[in-house]
Amino acid sequence: MTNDTRQYSFFDRICINIDQGLRTLHQCPITTDRANPAENINTDNLGSTEKGHSASLMRINHTGEVCAQALYQGQALTARTQALREQMHHASLEENDHLDWCGTRLKELGSHTSYLNPLWYTGSLALGITAGLIGDKWSLGFLAETENQVVTHLESHLTKLSENDHKSRTIISQMIIDEREHETNAINAGANTLPPFIKALMQLTSKIMTRTVRWI
Ligand SMILES: [Fe+2]
Ligand SMILES: [Fe+2]
Repeated sequence: MTNDTRQYSFFDRICINIDQGLRTLHQCPITTDRANPAENINTDNLGSTEKGHSASLMRINHTGEVCAQALYQGQALTARTQALREQMHHASLEENDHLDWCGTRLKELGSHTSYLNPLWYTGSLALGITAGLIGDKWSLGFLAETENQVVTHLESHLTKLSENDHKSRTIISQMIIDEREHETNAINAGANTLPPFIKALMQLTSKIMTRTVRWI
């Protein structure tokens, strides 16, 4: 029986979340089993500077996916309805695909994931739980705005990445499609629009994350 259909108690969900958190931080997420969109691209002839640049951007994207996992897990934990929990669960599986693809790409580039991931995971989980407690429509609004800001951020990475880094570019392009769909689903499910100062605060937090994770 899958997570989508079985009714879990609150305690069950805490245990599942601990498992998901450990999987997120130890690079063994449960994915949708979609193929990595870059797996058949074999044209990696990047110089060492290009590789380093790509790695710093993909490390940021990997940490973004760690944060996405924690946000979805936190929001699912405190969501009021089963329907919303299921929507969060489905989206979090797709975020796990992204987590897996970014982690794989970082390895190919000879680099590492951020050492700050446990810190960002914990902060994002607390934020997700809080958003869920405020109410489903605000939680969906937070989700929709997060996804919208992620798309803007990923699009900016496409302009910064080397034209020769076909693998990273392919992964990011698929992520943009998925994140936009997550945003649309949240809006269609009745998301409230967040006040501008919350949106600005979210942008500031993501700026702090990208500046610190780029190198560490
Ligand atoms: Fe994602
Ligand atoms: Fe997403």
